[in-house]
Amino acid sequence: MRVAILTGASSGIGRATARELARRGYAIALAARREHLLLDAAAEVEELGGRAIAVETDVTDEEAVEALVNRTLAELGRIDVFVGNAGVYQLGRFEDTPPDVFRRVLETNFFGIVNGARAVIPAFRRQGHGTLVLVASLDSHVGAAQAAAYTASKWAVRGFAASLRSELRGSGVHISVVSPASIDTPLFRHAANYTGRAMKALSPVYAPERVASAIARVAERPRREVIVGPMGVVMAVQRTLTPALVDRLFGIQVEHDHFTGGSAPASPGNLFEPVDDGGSASGGFGGRRHTRLRRAALVAAASGAAAATWRART
Ligand SMILES: NC(=O)c1ccc[n+]([C@@H]2O[C@H](COP(=O)([O-])OP(=O)(O)OC[C@H]3O[C@@H](n4cnc5c(N)ncnc54)[C@H](OP(=O)(O)O)[C@@H]3O)[C@@H](O)[C@H]2O)c1
Repeated sequence: MRVAILTGASSGIGRATARELARRGYAIALAARREHLLLDAAAEVEELGGRAIAVETDVTDEEAVEALVNRTLAELGRIDVFVGNAGVYQLGRFEDTPPDVFRRVLETNFFGIVNGARAVIPAFRRQGHGTLVLVASLDSHVGAAQAAAYTASKWAVRGFAASLRSELRGSGVHISVVSPASIDTPLFRHAANYTGRAMKALSPVYAPERVASAIARVAERPRREVIVGPMGVVMAVQRTLTPALVDRLFGIQVEHDHFTGGSAPASPGNLFEPVDDGGSASGGFGGRRHTRLRRAALVAAASGAAAATWRART
């Protein structure tokens, strides 16, 4: 039985990934702060034929992450895959975002992954194999407006992975970075918000199960980089061709499409303490499970035309 550690397993993409790995017969150490949800997820894993232990863990706590790895080795025997998925979201202009909130986003999204890598790589090296699957974001390929801390944390994850991959060449240890586009999870209900406006997922929204299968695939056949969601692929490619255009259009999209129209009080969301809201995989934003070929071709053609026009003008 292959063994995985999965952080951020209490909701959203993590919850969907726990199910996907269970169907593939994994034994999984499920980690997050909300233990009661980890216990629910563990029961689901067992029903689907996998095996699970629930390990309450705050990924910003280096010793807790080390204890997670040690407990997994003690109870499940080895570790084939470490999925660093735990993460938090933040919206608000840089000047409106409190410094401790900015720092906490980096502590969770980036240093949470660093803590995981530091704890698990020695075990991978002893075994002679292992795969780190790091969940970044489409925002690690673009400059996302009003999310400077989040964007910086996700670019940091990709940079860290690129460097570490070189150091680990030949060791049997692989690193795959999975970058989802906009996904239908409770992330946007958990987020820190300093915009004054209630937020929703950006469109198009994809189902968390799409990310879960991408994670499970690279866990078995590692790839350097995977972007989940066709719109994400188009935007990332286009960002390499016309960075100024993409960043400007993305800024406009955030302004017009990331908010519900209602207001919201300033809040650090689930950054420092977990919140009760949102313990399922879906966030209720209607994520698509499949993309029709015709729609994907239309998006690619429209964005190709926009890039050509922009390049001709500049
Ligand atoms: N949804 C999207 O559109 C989207 C797009 C791109 C990338 N992502 C990335 O996908 C990952 C999963 O997010 P999601 O969309 O599934 O949102 P989510 O439902 O809010 O899940 C986030 C998970 O991280 C855990 N977490 C947060 N802070 C933690 C901490 N300090 N220690 C341990 N666990 C912590 C949460 O559990 P507890 O609160 O119980 O600890 C939860 O299980 C994140 O890295 C996110 O950046 C999401």
